Amino acid sequence: SSCASSNKERTLAIVKPDGLLGNYTDDIKKTIIEYGFSIAEEKLVQLDEDNVRRFYAEHSSKSFFSNLVTYMTSGPVLVMVLEKESAIADWRALMGPTDANKAKATHPHSIRAMCGRDMEKNCVHGSDSPKSAQREISFFFGEVSTDKVTEHDEL
Ligand code: TYD
Ligand code: MG
Repeated sequence: SSCASSNKERTLAIVKPDGLLGNYTDDIKKTIIEYGFSIAEEKLVQLDEDNVRRFYAEHSSKSFFSNLVTYMTSGPVLVMVLEKESAIADWRALMGPTDANKAKATHPHSIRAMCGRDMEKNCVHGSDSPKSAQREISFFFGEVSTDKVTEHDEL
């Protein structure tokens, strides 16, 4: 690429349990590369309840929170750091709307339209701002916050 590294931005992407179990990972990665992102970091992890409660702390008071914790701990997830210019906004756009049913209706080429099911099981995560991206990347790849995340190297 001709872009200087200083123009690039990093965002955190997660392939959620249904995406992984449904064997969508290869198609998702292919799409990520097609759209000009590079995958700077990746790892498979099995999240526990405490991990999910901390990762999604902003949603802790929501009615869907306990279902979200159950879903996100139901199997391993693939966590990636994606890099490109405008990575945060571009990955959000490529994912499509939170509700996968809406994605299928209005954003048929989005990733959530491809592999999501509904408002909860929507296949992928993406950071929503530079501040979130920084927090979420260090949550999984920083030194301090990853100590409670169990890596599954064999998967
Ligand atoms: P949110 O941050 O609003 O969506 P996004 O993933 O698009 O940033 O919500 C976080 C996750 O919480 C969302 O991906 C799926 C789940 N969720 C529900 O299960 N029900 C809901 O009504 C909402 C808004 C989110
Ligand atoms: Mg969000």
